[in-house]
Amino acid sequence: MPHAVLARLPPGSVRLVIAFGLLLLVSLLVLRRRPAGPLTRASAGGGRIPDTAALFLSLSAGANASIKADLRALTAGPHLAGTADAAGPAAHVLGRLRAAGLQTLTREYSPLLSYPGNASLALLRPDGSLLARLSLDEPADEVRPRRLVPPYHAYAPSGGAVAEAVYVNLGREEDYAALERIGVGVRGRVAVARRGGGYRGGVVARAAEKGAVAVLIAGRPDGGVERGVVLLGGPGDPLTPGWAATGRAERLGFDDEAVKRRFPKIPSMPVSAETAVEIIRSLGGPAIPADWQEAGLGVDAGGVGPGPTLVNFTYQEDRKFETIQDIFGVIKGSEEPDRYVILGNHRDAWTYGAVDPNSGTASLLDIARRLGIMLQSGWKPRRSIILCSWDAEEFGMIGSTEWVEENLADLHSKAVAYLNVDCAVQGVGFFAGSTPQLDKLLVDVTRQVKDPDVMGKMVHDTWNEMDGGISIERLARTDSDFAPFLHHAGIPSVDLYYGKEFPGYHTALDSYNWMEKFGDPLFLRHLAITEIWGLLALRLADDPVLPFDYQVYASQLQEHTNALSALMSNSQAVNLMNGFINDLSGAATEVLKEAKKLQQLDLYDEHARMRRRSLNDHLLLAERSFLQAEGLQGRAWFKHLLYSPPEDYESKLSFFPGIADAISRSGNLSAEEREVSIQHEVWKVSRAIQRAASVLRGEFSRQNEPSNLSSLVTP
Ligand SMILES: *[C@@H]1O[C@H](CO)[C@@H](O)[C@H](O)[C@H]1NC(C)=O
Ligand SMILES: *[C@@H]1O[C@H](CO)[C@@H](O)[C@H](O)[C@H]1NC(C)=O
Ligand SMILES: *[C@@H]1O[C@H](CO)[C@@H](O)[C@H](O)[C@H]1NC(C)=O
Ligand SMILES: *[C@@H]1O[C@H](CO)[C@@H](O)[C@H](O)[C@H]1NC(C)=O
Ligand SMILES: *[C@@H]1O[C@H](CO)[C@@H](O)[C@H](O)[C@H]1NC(C)=O
Repeated sequence: MPHAVLARLPPGSVRLVIAFGLLLLVSLLVLRRRPAGPLTRASAGGGRIPDTAALFLSLSAGANASIKADLRALTAGPHLAGTADAAGPAAHVLGRLRAAGLQTLTREYSPLLSYPGNASLALLRPDGSLLARLSLDEPADEVRPRRLVPPYHAYAPSGGAVAEAVYVNLGREEDYAALERIGVGVRGRVAVARRGGGYRGGVVARAAEKGAVAVLIAGRPDGGVERGVVLLGGPGDPLTPGWAATGRAERLGFDDEAVKRRFPKIPSMPVSAETAVEIIRSLGGPAIPADWQEAGLGVDAGGVGPGPTLVNFTYQEDRKFETIQDIFGVIKGSEEPDRYVILGNHRDAWTYGAVDPNSGTASLLDIARRLGIMLQSGWKPRRSIILCSWDAEEFGMIGSTEWVEENLADLHSKAVAYLNVDCAVQGVGFFAGSTPQLDKLLVDVTRQVKDPDVMGKMVHDTWNEMDGGISIERLARTDSDFAPFLHHAGIPSVDLYYGKEFPGYHTALDSYNWMEKFGDPLFLRHLAITEIWGLLALRLADDPVLPFDYQVYASQLQEHTNALSALMSNSQAVNLMNGFINDLSGAATEVLKEAKKLQQLDLYDEHARMRRRSLNDHLLLAERSFLQAEGLQGRAWFKHLLYSPPEDYESKLSFFPGIADAISRSGNLSAEEREVSIQHEVWKVSRAIQRAASVLRGEFSRQNEPSNLSSLVTP
């Protein structure tokens, strides 16, 4: 990408350098995939260091074609985790990593997986006689090869119901409240919801809590039928919470309380919009509330029920221990091999996985290809780079979670960052999430990457022109493989994707044909993700001082605190956090000063090297300060006090999960009890922020607050 390279040269550069650079680039473009020449840039301390970004970008010529070929190969058939079909893409990934010259490793686990057995759905007349059999297939115009798994919810229990149905809109708390106002409840009935009410496992749990005996969830009218997992309470194998599901590992029993909490209590099934409409049209009862119909399934008749028709639903789950396989490509760092920059994407798919997840796999393989060429040209990363291809993500991030659990101590002390890409491309527009110390780096690299859709612009420009400007999500979701890295292990994380959503999510429509026709016809969005992902990794692996900015982190925490006080009637509880945030900000300023000083020193001077290593240790470990060893209350696996998901999956808070939980659990407490429970959680977050400030400074904690405990003990 010549434009990007020229843009990075300082304006006052000697003409000769530009001419030389151009010559190199031209020869690179001509030579294409031959080993690249030594592109260099001036280092802050004088002298020249290899410009690995320019090298990496120079390997983009023709990459869209090879990414396309990889995607085609990866999506030739379905490849559900734990099935024989999973072997093809695994062999492809392993072959590509080897061909690139990377050291490869594999790791196998045997988690409990869940597949569909027999299922049936019928509509009965009020007297119990058969009115119509309903289809549980995807829409008829989809050709479903025999090997494609029928739509189902993984870990939904076997069971069934012959009962009246109630239409519950999106199945959120507010929908049940609306039903209650018109005198309709779901106790003993089958809830029929349409997709869009948040995590599907949460929708099922909410229905169970309201007394429903089964749940049917309708897909989009323009889509297929959405498969997916309905486990609760976090990622990973449900029988080995906190440790790896290796073949001989301890497994909890199904009657263990911790295990029971993870499984839904009632059977459920995804259905097509057509099937749901057929049921709803047969319902009487109060009319469907006007505001439900607007964005709904387009039902033109019927009420919300219950009845008068009956639904007859049966389901048999097929639970099995199956082997899954994570695959790794490793490049050992030349100076700090014990520091890991980790890139990850999952490989398993519900159907063909052209978007989810193999658009990301094809990008990962192109990064491997480029790093392989760079290695041949003599480049070596300062720190180790690990490319990960996870299995069984669709069953609840199992491949990544088991690996993180197995290697937790090592990752705690050595992991720099985890960079995740799941659905690399599902449409137009760049979206990203990260922990705040990585914001600046993320924005920075998008200035070097050409926008795939607007000629002459960089991703940064179009990102900035989106509604509301550049916005970076905080990663409190648990729907991809960053969850174990961030929420459990406290490793700074990033998640990247093009396009917010697509109609074929988890359906038979997620195929190579869709990608080629609609998703990314020229594979240039794939290329953009590959470049952003790769450049992030290279900066994290090669920058002498880690490109983490904790001032941004402190400002973000300040914003969270302000948002929290606005939510609470008594903001005194929150005010105490401000002092700790200021302290973190002060520590971050000291870090930046030290980093500047280090830039003045010779890169290879032994003293500078020691100081740099020490500063990098502080930066590396600061995020770990946000972990609470015993985890969140009642949810021990989630250890991150700033960014874990809140327990109430409908909660709007995407930060401070312990505080969010205390608020949502305080409904029936007295004002005073409520204050105490929230205050306790606020203190936990405050102490975590204080720990981070100490870690950044590399000092023991300071006694800098006046203490007066006599007020506590006097009656
Ligand atoms: C499905 O039903 C058939 C016939 O009743 C039975 O033989 C089979 O075991 C069932 N499969 C599962 C997974 O329950
Ligand atoms: C409900 O469906 C199952 C499976 O098809 C069938 O065995 C059962 O007899 C049906 N129940 C009623 C009441 O129709
Ligand atoms: C790759 O991108 C170029 C534009 O940069 C385009 O002309 C070409 O057709 C694309 N290749 C494929 C295979 O789509
Ligand atoms: C609050 O209500 C929940 C049920 O909604 C109950 O489990 C809990 O014990 C109640 N707590 C108190 C303090 O009454
Ligand atoms: C400590 O608190 C008590 C009770 O609130 C107060 O009477 C006392 O003056 C305080 N002492 C100091 C040194 O601030």
